[in-house]
Amino acid sequence: MFNHLPTKRRNVLRALVAGGIAFFVAPFAYAIEQFVSFQGALGGNKTAKLSAAELTPDSPSKLVEVEGEPVIVVREADNQIRAFTATCTHLGCIVSFKPQMPGFYCKCHSGRYDANGVNIPGTRPKSPLTELLVKQNADDLEISLTPKGTGSASS
Ligand code: FES
Repeated sequence: MFNHLPTKRRNVLRALVAGGIAFFVAPFAYAIEQFVSFQGALGGNKTAKLSAAELTPDSPSKLVEVEGEPVIVVREADNQIRAFTATCTHLGCIVSFKPQMPGFYCKCHSGRYDANGVNIPGTRPKSPLTELLVKQNADDLEISLTPKGTGSASS
């Protein structure tokens, strides 16, 4: 391509062309790498593990994190253990479990959800919390971001 030019000038031009190509290709390569690693995170099976004994009548809920997402695990009055996304569907504050309601409460704008995570009409949240799959083996609990009903085994 640059054979008619002196060797030194030819090498400089080749380096400039290679650098220019790298300059335009690098952002696309970076974006593709980020997309691929993000897809891998979504497909990951990361879970939070805790003991059912940590959920007592005096402290029936616990906030855990699964893949960076806050999740609230609750022991209901009938001893059923359930997990829900803990991010309020209004503006993203973290909800807390209120056994006396029973249900979930968001202190940011007094948002309320019933015990099934369904938003209560008249409060700010307009969509429910998502119930998540809880696998229980004796006292060991394993919570993933898999919505309940879409996984292979739940309790
Ligand atoms: S962020 Fe929860 S009610 Fe507004």
